[in-house]
Amino acid sequence: PETITVQELAARMSMRAVDLVKELMKQGQMVTANATLDADTAQLVAEDLGHAVKRVSEADVEEGLGGAADTDADMKSRPPVVTIMGHVDHGKTSLLDALRQTDVVAGEAGGITQHIGAYQVDLGNERKITFLDTPGHAAFTQMRARGAKVTDIIILVVAADDSIMPQTEEAISHAKAAGVPIIVAINKVDKPDADPNKVRTDLLQYEIQVESMGGDVQDVEVSALKKMNLDGLQEAILLQSELLELKANPDRPAEGAVVEGRLDKGRGAVATMLVERGTLKRGDIMVVGSEWGKVRAMSDDKGAQVKEAGPAYPVEILGLNGVPEPGDTFHVVESEARAREIAEFRQRQRREKAAAKSSGTSLEQMMAQL
Ligand code: GTP
Ligand code: MG
Repeated sequence: PETITVQELAARMSMRAVDLVKELMKQGQMVTANATLDADTAQLVAEDLGHAVKRVSEADVEEGLGGAADTDADMKSRPPVVTIMGHVDHGKTSLLDALRQTDVVAGEAGGITQHIGAYQVDLGNERKITFLDTPGHAAFTQMRARGAKVTDIIILVVAADDSIMPQTEEAISHAKAAGVPIIVAINKVDKPDADPNKVRTDLLQYEIQVESMGGDVQDVEVSALKKMNLDGLQEAILLQSELLELKANPDRPAEGAVVEGRLDKGRGAVATMLVERGTLKRGDIMVVGSEWGKVRAMSDDKGAQVKEAGPAYPVEILGLNGVPEPGDTFHVVESEARAREIAEFRQRQRREKAAAKSSGTSLEQMMAQL
């Protein structure tokens, strides 16, 4: 049901909460400033105080956000978005770094790679893979908790000399809960005590049956350190993404998710975004979580300025009026007025939720306050 806190209602009528509490008491409503009122009560009291009331529901404000559904004909293949998970020290960072160095374009340009929270490896021949540069279960769960489901494939890194460890187990349950397919990267096979087959058999206990054990989960032996069989892992990723038939419509206003956000002293709010549908363009106006802004500048993970970013292409953007959270979703909208309206609506909702949570004030406390 629609509700509003006394505090918020007072704020919207530009009056003090304590005066509104008094007004409500006069009408026989014993409430505190933190109490929530149902929409009808709120409307009545606001009208009694001489205010015109226009009720706006979530459905109205956010109506049309995201636009029309895409037709099959609009859908074009897009690169997979991959997250690397695994136990401490099993080689997640080493593997990410090694994979990153296989990028043909970065090699040619000799560009300096930027850590923007996500990057794309171009393997040539229209083959690209996007990696989330935040290995870690916390980042993954945080993003999912906020509604962003950007990961298509999880690479489960398991060190061949250590096999399944607590965080390997944790990663498996995250992947299963999210319904995201796993590719097992059996790492450190260069080590003398490496035992890849033990990893394969141990995985059976977690209902992961790799191909060589008659199952359908791909497993690839690699060494991040010696850069062995990275192309094998990339092939496995590309094969898995073909099976998933990953597609998006690039010809529409962009929407997607925040990978990272931070405040930069000189440049203001900086956010890494991953486009999920449409194409993000410089100058676009967006609402993102409860922030909004106009894309003033965009750069990719090689530090190059870009004017456009299509599906699964990670970019760092400037121009937001506040720092968004990882997992916040963004939508490009038609005007600043609309972006501001939605952002302000969401900020109010957030405040109301927070107030509702902390409204444990008793009647006695309230009387004491008056
Ligand atoms: P955390 O971020 O701490 O969870 O670790 P990680 O999973 O990112 O592991 P990281 O890449 O930091 O590697 C841990 C150690 O294992 C480092 O000393 C690496 O040099 C070593 N290492 C990683 N991959 C390999 C490999 O393929 N072979 C060998 N021999 N050592 C490796
Ligand atoms: Mg690491």
